[in-house]
Amino acid sequence: MSRSLLAVVFVLLLAGCSRDSWQRSPGPDDAMKLVPWFAFMEENVAIQPYKMNRMPAEGAVPIDGIEPPLQVLPENFPAINALRNPAQRTAESLETGRKYYEIFCQPCHGATGAGDGPVNEKMFVVQSLLTQKANDLSDGMIYSIIRHGRGVMRAYGEGVRGIDRWHVVNYVRQLQGATR
Ligand code: HEC
Repeated sequence: MSRSLLAVVFVLLLAGCSRDSWQRSPGPDDAMKLVPWFAFMEENVAIQPYKMNRMPAEGAVPIDGIEPPLQVLPENFPAINALRNPAQRTAESLETGRKYYEIFCQPCHGATGAGDGPVNEKMFVVQSLLTQKANDLSDGMIYSIIRHGRGVMRAYGEGVRGIDRWHVVNYVRQLQGATR
């Protein structure tokens, strides 16, 4: 073999080793795969999670991780009302809900939910959570109002996250207890 041919082969070998091409460089398997009736374990009928993402079951509520946005808009009402509250109304849930309510909701909606928090002295549009209308909201609707806001109420989803929003929903239900 001439010296220049050797040099070419050497350069080609080096090129074959570049950082991400090693995965793509042909191997014996590629030659085998040219024969259609050979079976390969990597191409079997098993579920290949990275090739077919599983969507969450309908009505599923993430208690952690990523959650697609669901703005409080009429076209989303059916999906919002179909959300199921995954948090049992236990003493622990109510305690967590109270903690978040006092930080994020009480300034406007007031300690009892009557809409008489200190902010309401300056901003007369805060609504009572004890009305029949508020009682009739589904858990999913209250959850979504916390998460995305509605009308002039801004979103509190950044401060109250995941399952904690459902604890706040439970606490609001507790406040409504007297009027429910
Ligand atoms: C800065 C004041 C403010 C804060 C803080 C606030 N809200 Fe509101 N909230 C409002 C206003 C104003 C409305 C009326 C929104 C509208 O115009 O649709 C409202 C509406 C609501 C409604 C709908 C009531 C109905 O009868 O339709 C719910 C439920 C609610 N808020 C829950 C909460 C919860 C839970 C929190 C705490 C995470 C919270 N809000 C924090 C001002 C506030």
